[in-house]
Amino acid sequence: MITSSAEQIDDTKLDITLRPQAFSEYVGQENTKKNLNILIKAAQKRKEPIEHVLLYGPAGLGKTTLAHIIANEMGANIRTTSGPAIEKVGDLGSILTNLSDGDILFIDEIHRLNKLIEEVLYPAMEDFKLDIIIGKGPSAKTLQLDLPRFTLIGATTRLGSISSPLRNRFGVIHRLDFYENEDIEKILHRSSKILEIPIDSAGAASISRSSRRTPRVANRLLKRVRDFTQVENEKEINEKLTLQALKNLEIDALGLEPTDRHILATIIEKFSGGPVGIQTLAAATMEETETIEDVYEPFLLQIGFLARTPRGRVATEQAYKHLGIEYNKENQNKLL
Ligand SMILES: Nc1ncnc2c1ncn2[C@@H]1O[C@H](COP(=O)(O)OP(=O)(O)OP(=O)(O)O)[C@@H](O)[C@H]1O
Ligand SMILES: [Mg+2]
Repeated sequence: MITSSAEQIDDTKLDITLRPQAFSEYVGQENTKKNLNILIKAAQKRKEPIEHVLLYGPAGLGKTTLAHIIANEMGANIRTTSGPAIEKVGDLGSILTNLSDGDILFIDEIHRLNKLIEEVLYPAMEDFKLDIIIGKGPSAKTLQLDLPRFTLIGATTRLGSISSPLRNRFGVIHRLDFYENEDIEKILHRSSKILEIPIDSAGAASISRSSRRTPRVANRLLKRVRDFTQVENEKEINEKLTLQALKNLEIDALGLEPTDRHILATIIEKFSGGPVGIQTLAAATMEETETIEDVYEPFLLQIGFLARTPRGRVATEQAYKHLGIEYNKENQNKLL
């Protein structure tokens, strides 16, 4: 689906082409940028690597991009891997022993690291030591290797799924927020220059409004609107073309697409507005629980269409309004 903030295959190329290389090109997230900049400058003065950094926030907001920028600004090498890619303790061991002083190790989806592997990370992060067990059974011996002084940058969409011992070993934790519309417009203008697709400001504003305040979605929509513009034999993206293209893609003015509306409508029509448990909702909408939680829900919560209660998800009055369904307050109060 097009407005999914999750990474899709043809994104990888688009992401790399459009990925900012320095803080100066990275739009928005001012607080995070400022703090990371101080961290980097101070470490450079001390001629030390920076502390371990954990970046979290919904998909497509720029965590991977930031990790690369930190490496660029430090003039450091970056080695990237991900939680699910590290299958065995030995995999992590060989990654760690192949690093050099000052290198950055980026672990994406760090919440998906297996427990045993996570435990190997603790002494590595804290004391730059790697414990290796040689042999099996009673004769097994532990050998300790010194590791280079590296910096771990972890990224996750789910801070809550990271164990506290792991979380506590990060010196710096930053949350990325959804972007302001004007920041998304800036990103669109930047991307349109790189991709050589002229766009006027009303066109950028209307793409921005439908991009779920997420840079990855904005860039993806830009590409689709460009295709539409070219098919229409137009030279520049404007508001009219954008609105037509979005309509063809069934994306509404808030950036909601059919699946979002289906999820909301299911809560309202099948479960009287909720609360409904996430698993039940997933079964009723034929979506995966994880997909609802990671892809659809964050933005629906952000715009106040969905509320999370201890008993499950609830569609709010605003969601009813958006879908044009009458909201019965008394009924809702009983349910809440
Ligand atoms: N602040 C920004 N300024 C300009 N472009 C950005 C910014 N943040 C992200 N982007 C664009 O959005 C794309 C997606 O960002 P990125 O891959 O860093 O997201 P992510 O948070 O790592 O997502 P995921 O959780 O799916 O891994 C990047 O390729 C880049 O083009
Ligand atoms: Mg990423």
